[in-house]
Amino acid sequence: MPKLNENYQNLKESYLFAEIAHRVADYTEKNPDKKVIRLGIGDVTLPVGSLAIQGLHEGVDAMASSETFMGYGPEQGYAFLREAISGYYAKNGVDVSAADIFISDGAKCDTGNIAELFSADNVILIPDPVYPVYVDSNIMSGKKVTYIDANADNNFLPLPDPSVHADIIYICSPNNPTGAAYNREQLKIWVDYALANEAVILYDAAYECFISDPEIPHSIYAIEGAKKCAIEFCSLSKTAGFTGTRCAYTIVPRDLVFTASNGEEMSLHAMWNRRQSTKFNGTSYIVQKGAAAVFTEEGMRQCHENISYYKENARIIAETLTRKNIRFFGGVNSPYIWLECPNGMESWAFFDYLLNEIQVVGTPGAGFGENGRNFFRLTSFGNRENTIEAMERFEKLI
Ligand code: MLT
Repeated sequence: MPKLNENYQNLKESYLFAEIAHRVADYTEKNPDKKVIRLGIGDVTLPVGSLAIQGLHEGVDAMASSETFMGYGPEQGYAFLREAISGYYAKNGVDVSAADIFISDGAKCDTGNIAELFSADNVILIPDPVYPVYVDSNIMSGKKVTYIDANADNNFLPLPDPSVHADIIYICSPNNPTGAAYNREQLKIWVDYALANEAVILYDAAYECFISDPEIPHSIYAIEGAKKCAIEFCSLSKTAGFTGTRCAYTIVPRDLVFTASNGEEMSLHAMWNRRQSTKFNGTSYIVQKGAAAVFTEEGMRQCHENISYYKENARIIAETLTRKNIRFFGGVNSPYIWLECPNGMESWAFFDYLLNEIQVVGTPGAGFGENGRNFFRLTSFGNRENTIEAMERFEKLI
């Protein structure tokens, strides 16, 4: 009989978005005549921009002839895409070498898989509430997580306690689920703390393209010293509408070198390279062709057209909540709006209430951690008509 990875017993029964999908499917089966509006999972609704589509077509066409056909690509990604991403950072005033960039098929996989590089005896600091992948991937490998409270008192932007040591720190900014984003000064506090503790920050920047405030950095590498203490994850899912197309990248600077328990120096870049080369055969050439088009001037302009549309949805949601006197966070430099459930309601009860009464689906804050118990996440990724209709329903109900 196989001995199983019993750490799986320590996970919640189902992944948050699977549980939501299950409840919604159950409701729609029983109420087929009701129109359900989904503002739950952060999945985009606008089509991919025409330039990226053209890139994808070029990739497909290349496969059709023996002169241009591509087989296995480099596990790290094609140079043309890694260089395009490096150029994108340069435009934001951040120096990231193409050689430090690894292309992948998702930030979810990368933020989950990165846990493999670290042993179980680290102090792993994770904010609560948080994107559940960070927690679950550590639990799956038998690691213990220490939580740092993100709450209304600190505007959901916790800062480190200098008297408490950590080895690994997860930060997502702009944050999923709260929509809060760290400014330069706050990020510097984290970087200085990580350097002082010889810790590694695992920085998820998947929502950076929603930042409009110049005080909020798009990358942790905008902060001096970050290349010595941070790995950055980013994705084209929300930037370019690639949730179904799948492309992301992870930056592991070669400066990230630490001493192992046997005294040998180990490079996180070399370890991630080894991990990817062993377990990953690269993102498809077709997708990388589409992704490279995203990083051209016109490709990015098209992305920002869609992002502006979502940001207007966020404004519409925020306006309704303000009118109803409901406290909320986010929605400005982020596609997410994190609202306090009215009348002290718990978030799963509020989820059921909204589904049953007005057929609007959001994400219960409890799914992101204890501190989300009385909060609820709405996304601005719906289409305009549905967002307006959801808010009209909301306005009448609450
Ligand atoms: C979310 O809704 O939190 C995200 O869409 C999940 C993800 O990016 O995997």
